[in-house]
Amino acid sequence: MSTRITPKPGILDIELYVGGKGHAAGVSNSVKLSSNENPWGPSEAAKQAYRSVAGELHVYPSGDHAELRAAIGEVHGVDADRVICSNGSDELISFLCQAYAGAGDEVLFTEHGFLMYKLCAQGAGATPVSVPETDRRTDVDALLAAANENTKLVFIANPNNPTATMISEEEVARLADGLPEQALLVLDGAYAEFVEGFDGHAGLVEERENVFMTRTFSKIYGLGGLRLGWGYGPVTIVDTLHRMRGPFNVNASVLAAGEAAVRDVEYTQKCREVNAQWAEYLREKLMGMGIACDPSQTNFVLARFGSEAEADGADKALGDAGLIVRAVKSYGLAECLRITVGKGADCKRVVQVLQEFKEGWVA
Ligand SMILES: Cc1ncc(COP(=O)(O)O)c(C=O)c1O
Repeated sequence: MSTRITPKPGILDIELYVGGKGHAAGVSNSVKLSSNENPWGPSEAAKQAYRSVAGELHVYPSGDHAELRAAIGEVHGVDADRVICSNGSDELISFLCQAYAGAGDEVLFTEHGFLMYKLCAQGAGATPVSVPETDRRTDVDALLAAANENTKLVFIANPNNPTATMISEEEVARLADGLPEQALLVLDGAYAEFVEGFDGHAGLVEERENVFMTRTFSKIYGLGGLRLGWGYGPVTIVDTLHRMRGPFNVNASVLAAGEAAVRDVEYTQKCREVNAQWAEYLREKLMGMGIACDPSQTNFVLARFGSEAEADGADKALGDAGLIVRAVKSYGLAECLRITVGKGADCKRVVQVLQEFKEGWVA
């Protein structure tokens, strides 16, 4: 093997992204509660639209995603000309880093922020900077203090993964207004649809030149397997990102399913309501057993145990019962488990297993 073929400096320092586990060893009817997927899946309309493309697979898809962008524009009340569609919102995070940050530039994100911000910053050769949170919440003052003349991008997810917490629009606006002029604020709205009446800060994008929003079809729309995301921002930023993407970065069946999914607002509303009900159920029950848990603005809860050992024990007990949740050590939360809100019966199973575990646990 040739030793002369080597990637650019820094690339091999990038840790491989490890997603939520999909199976529990030796358990046949396991339930995946580790990747914040919608347990009810996509709407029937989306599935039908996906199938409808089967007879046309030899035809290239739309390169401008016009119909999907129009649907997003109508449903979310945004200007379709400034919407860009992508292969998952991960792709946009990567494009933003590739386009705006390089050697000597800094990319800021919060202490327990989504891992892809760091990995994509490293991929672009930029310096990732993790900024402390306060009580598992984005700390705007800390971000403003960390920003300097090298800061090119600032990523925050609101609500955030894996903390499930959210900061107010006023705080986000204060952040946008306080950043140095060369820095772009990226607002990741992967979980925005779970918050009733929330526009994912599209309004802030409208009012400012330094704010970009990313969204996904992987969460409430139940299309994680298809890989579809979108972004919304100032014309100059959107134009830049179009230059980064492949001409057919979103395939035909994904475009069809996404359009049908976003137009099925009734189904989305149902998912939002049932999720909120079971998220609150989970939180109340966890708190009742002495497991700390912040109110969730998302489709998961972050269960905080007394120690890493206790979280490991709970993870094992749940896994043995076929309930796969997410250990979040890589997010700096070793004493926590992130549990996706499942169907009602699965939430009840989680509670029952944790109750039995707590009864038997000796610190
Ligand atoms: C905060 C956040 N942003 C982005 C993503 C990536 O989503 P996508 O599936 O659209 O790439 C996720 C997925 O878990 C997420 O939690």
